[in-house]
Amino acid sequence: MAPALVETPSQPLLTYKSGTGDYKEAYIGGPKAYKPELELEGKGKQPPAKYPNYLPTWDFSKKYAPLQPFEHYDHGKDADPAFPNLLKGAKVEDLTANIGAEIHGVQLSKLTDKGKDELALFVAQKKVVAFRDQDLADLPIQEALDFGAYFGRHHIHPTSGAPAGYPEIHLVHRGADDTTAKDFFEERTNSVTWHSDVTYEKQPPGTTFLYLLDGPAAGGDTLFANQAEAYRRLSPAFRERLQGLKAVHSAVEQATNSSNRGGVVRREPVTSIHPLVRTHPVTGEKALWVNPQFTRRIVGFKKEESDFLLKFLYDHVAKGQDFQARVKWAAGTVVVWDNRVTAHSALLDWDDGQRRHLARITPQAEAPYETPIEA
Ligand SMILES: [Fe+2]
Repeated sequence: MAPALVETPSQPLLTYKSGTGDYKEAYIGGPKAYKPELELEGKGKQPPAKYPNYLPTWDFSKKYAPLQPFEHYDHGKDADPAFPNLLKGAKVEDLTANIGAEIHGVQLSKLTDKGKDELALFVAQKKVVAFRDQDLADLPIQEALDFGAYFGRHHIHPTSGAPAGYPEIHLVHRGADDTTAKDFFEERTNSVTWHSDVTYEKQPPGTTFLYLLDGPAAGGDTLFANQAEAYRRLSPAFRERLQGLKAVHSAVEQATNSSNRGGVVRREPVTSIHPLVRTHPVTGEKALWVNPQFTRRIVGFKKEESDFLLKFLYDHVAKGQDFQARVKWAAGTVVVWDNRVTAHSALLDWDDGQRRHLARITPQAEAPYETPIEA
């Protein structure tokens, strides 16, 4: 049965052309910083890219139409909660008490559909799971995409570079010899940028896959926060205050940033209005659904009121080390998270020009919705 939704006042039609958020992005050099010859041939101590088929291209000739609504089916609903198909023979270790697991002994690309159902549920419960010794990066790109398509419609990122011919792959790429990190720290004291991915879309991603292709010897870890636990830590009175509130999420600043870097804007930037608290369609958990990268304003609040409440929520998540985990990358690692109940941040803590190259498969999920607080 479809869950009851929290009634909210009728939504004004809002199109914010400029935001008031704290958008910052410095992790992807973009075409201006990209040096294909260094990627293909290497230089000095830097070897050539391990996965040249995944090197970024930017297609300025292709514009994508606005995304259309679609019906998402979350396969976690069909999962056996004992996970017999996913975890048989696996070594599972929790990363922390409140979020995250690390798994050895499972090959994601070989999972049956039942195993994939269980993966969706397991990740929804653990929030983020690092699978070691995977072959996803070694498969033909189309096979990796076919695997990911089970979990939802592939998102095509509006500003990402992509492997030639595979616009659905979102690339995180900082090339060998790219030392723009040094420039970044001229202006910022840290590189932490908590967010959930592309929350400005009407149907943001759910089960999301990020896999390492090349990485620095040390550094470049990814931080994750459990947004459901962050919600539960709030007092009942505060949770009641959040109920029914909605916020504007904007893609405009990301598109502007891409243009300024000489990058692409493949689809016109959009804004969406989402509840501040969303309910997970499988676990029923409620989670905070705001982030400083893309959330701009609480609908119906005056600016100062909105800034005040959002800043509290952002600080609450950022300081919540007791519901966060830090994932270290290694060759063959695939990290899977449920974007509906987590926030994450890259760390730009190495600045000596070592290559960092990852690929993301980003299946979209349902439009966020909120169910009433249970008595
Ligand atoms: Fe992200």
